[in-house]
Amino acid sequence: MALKRFSISLDNELLKRFDDIIKRKRYNNRSKVIADLIRNYLVEEEWKFEDRDSIGTINIVYDHHKRNLLNKLTEVQHKYHSQIVSDTHVHLDHNNCLEVIIVKGKTGIIKKVAEDIIKIKGIKFGKLSIATKGKEL
Ligand code: NI
Repeated sequence: MALKRFSISLDNELLKRFDDIIKRKRYNNRSKVIADLIRNYLVEEEWKFEDRDSIGTINIVYDHHKRNLLNKLTEVQHKYHSQIVSDTHVHLDHNNCLEVIIVKGKTGIIKKVAEDIIKIKGIKFGKLSIATKGKEL
């Protein structure tokens, strides 16, 4: 991989805060952090295009006693069976469950799957985490 050097002009105070975090996190140098930030930004930008192939996870927390919730959740997952890669269930306590659903496909459909799952009545927490298949990074 060819490396290229470039310089950045930053507000003094901003740079100080940045360096404090780098020190706290024990990164060896700024370059790695800047590269990570840029890659994150590229992945976020990729998700703005509905027709890109990507991958992500949907994290949900719910009370499994809620009437109809499990039926609805299964129904939605069957509807999008082509996009759903796997589903991991963790029993958190007597009432609460955490599920991590891995979804793959066009970003537009993945967003729709996440929306349809998160809006199910009784879901206490729901979030789509965007990831990337890693090409071009
Ligand atoms: Ni459970």
